[in-house]
This record gives sequence, C-alpha cells and structure tokens, in this order.
Amino acid sequence: MAKALSGIKPTGGLTIGNYLGALRHFKNYQEDNELFIFVADMHALTLPIDPDYLKKNIYDIVALYLAAGLDPKKTVLFRQSDINEVGQLNSIIANYIYMGELSRMTQFKEKSRALNNKEIGVGLFTYPVLMSADLLLYDTEVCPVGEDQVQHVELARDIAKRINSRYKKKIFNIPHAVVSGVGKRIKNLQDPTKKMSKSDERGSKGVIYLIEDDEKSIRKKIMSAVTDLGTEVKYDEKNKPGISNLIQIYCTFTNKTIEEAEKIFADSNYGNFKKCVADAVLNELLPFKAKYEEYRSNMDYLNSVLLDGAERARKIAEVVLKRVRSTVGLI
Ligand code: TYM
Repeated sequence: MAKALSGIKPTGGLTIGNYLGALRHFKNYQEDNELFIFVADMHALTLPIDPDYLKKNIYDIVALYLAAGLDPKKTVLFRQSDINEVGQLNSIIANYIYMGELSRMTQFKEKSRALNNKEIGVGLFTYPVLMSADLLLYDTEVCPVGEDQVQHVELARDIAKRINSRYKKKIFNIPHAVVSGVGKRIKNLQDPTKKMSKSDERGSKGVIYLIEDDEKSIRKKIMSAVTDLGTEVKYDEKNKPGISNLIQIYCTFTNKTIEEAEKIFADSNYGNFKKCVADAVLNELLPFKAKYEEYRSNMDYLNSVLLDGAERARKIAEVVLKRVRSTVGLI
C-alpha cells in the first residue's frame, strides 16, 4: 500500500485541464493506497488574491473533490494551512535547497514574467520548497499531477535524497510524480500552443471552466476552438495543435486511444468532430457539476470533512516532523 498525495491551489476558475490532468484521477488512488488530498491554500497566497475570493475557492475545491468521487472516509481530505507542521518543515528543508535550483523552476520564470519581473514575492520564489514540504510531511511515495508540476516533484525528490544522504539515514520517502498519458497537458482552445490555465484572464474563450461554464458556453467554446489548416482529424501536435488538443480532450473523456479516435473520425469534418467532443465533455461534466452543486450547498458537511481530515493529517505530520527535528538536532 503506497502513500499518495496531491493538491490543488484554490486560486479560482478551475479548468478542464485541472480536471483531466489531476482531479479526475485522484479517486483511482483511493482503494489501494493511503491517499492524502488537500487544498493548497497557502500556495494560493503566492500571487495577490482577494481574501473573500480565496475563502470561497477553498470550499469550491472541497466540493469538487467530493464530486470527483473522493470518499472522506477513505481519503484524508484536508486544508494545507490547518496543519502547522508544514510551516516548520518548510523552514527546515529550505536550508537544503539552493537558490539556483529555485531560479531554474519553469513556473517561477513564467509567473515572474507575468508580473513583469516586478514585486515578486519571496513566497513565489520558494513555492517549490513549500510543495516539497507538502510531499515530505506525509511520507508521500506517489504524486498524481499534470505535466506542469513534474519539475516541482522532481525537486522534492532531490531534496529528500539530499537530506537522507546528509544524515545517512532514511528520514524521508522519495516521492515520484505520476502523470496520466493523454490529458497531462490540455491546451488553451484559442491558442493550442499554450497550456489551458486557470490564471488566464477571467472568462477567457479558450478556457473551459469547471464551475463557471454551463452547457451552452462549453458547447460554444468547443465549437469555436481554433483548428488547423486541412480537413483531416489526425493527431499531429506539431502541425495540427488545435485538432490534437481536441483529440486529447475527446480521448480522455471517452477513455479511447488516439488511434481509435482517428478511426472514428476518419470521414468526419471538423464541425462534426467538434460536436462529438462537446458531447463527450458534457456527458461527464454535467452530472459532475450537479454533484458539485449539491456538495457545495452543504457548508456544514464541507466543514466537517475538513475538520476530520485535518485531525487525521496532523497525526501523520506530527510523527514525521518529530523524526526530522530530532535528526537535524532541534531537540
Ligand atoms: P494547480 O492548482 O496549478 O493545478 C492542479 C493540478 O492540475 C494540473 N493541471 C493540468 N493538467 C493538465 N492540463 C492542464 N492544462 C493543467 N493545468 C493544471 C496540475 O498539474 C496539477 O496537478 N503546485 C500545485 C498544488 C500543490 C501540490 C502540492 C500538488 C501544492 N503542493 C503537492 C501536488 C503535491 C498547483 O499549483 O497545482
């Protein structure tokens, strides 16, 4: 039985990228692993965010987790900031991570660029340190994430190995990222060369929002997705990034392979193909969204899930932190 852990930042506007790359897979880890899934609320502070919006988003994510099939009796479902131990572990391991390593992180570079390299908070720079603390505090072995988070998980691996070797004992498990095949990097429908991201401007036509978009707007966004020259529904990321992205979305929602999809749409035009993509997306998303609404309206239940999850997470965190403190000499 492996220990699996993952989390999502409550920065609002979750997309089908988050769903296909991460959220949808979490429940698969629930039966045969010890699963920890959390709301990464401290990470949400790494870029400016309105406090009321953040509070709302935290509950949105818990309801999404439940709608995605996570059973809080099986999965430890909690909020990152409820566990004080993560702050202390963050401070300890920060001493074993080098500035050069953090400056090389792609996400840091992208996000600093988006800020025009001005007023970059130290928290944004040390984001992967906190993420490593998340992973190491719960003895994580497996971390299901989308492709954009792999570099961060790899850094956590390096740090765990570095600290274990410094003290010549196994203090930390070595986590590794598990990335789903198709769906690992869903692209923007209007610009299929870049990732579909929740940090794109609000209401973007190229982004399908899990909560905000209804059936009509999901259909509209898919039907007006940018396509490529030619008429063939064929997977070719380089020459046909738009169609390839839609094939990925279709395949993930229908659990079909790319070859199967290409066969089905061999005689199809782009319009008909897009309609089938929209049907596939809605077939799964509409019932998912209905479940989400039901959980989201029950604040007492959401609070009780978080309370119970925090108690269970804290029990593990206390043991691991104690082990770390005594190893580095803090007792
Ligand atoms: P976040 O909130 O940015 O994204 C949540 C998950 O969604 C995946 N994802 C995508 N997958 C496919 N296509 C896309 N277009 C797409 N966009 C996002 C992400 O890879 C991620 O798995 N740093 C994390 C939160 C975190 C965390 C952790 C995760 C904090 N500590 C420890 C794992 C373990 C983040 O910001 O995810």
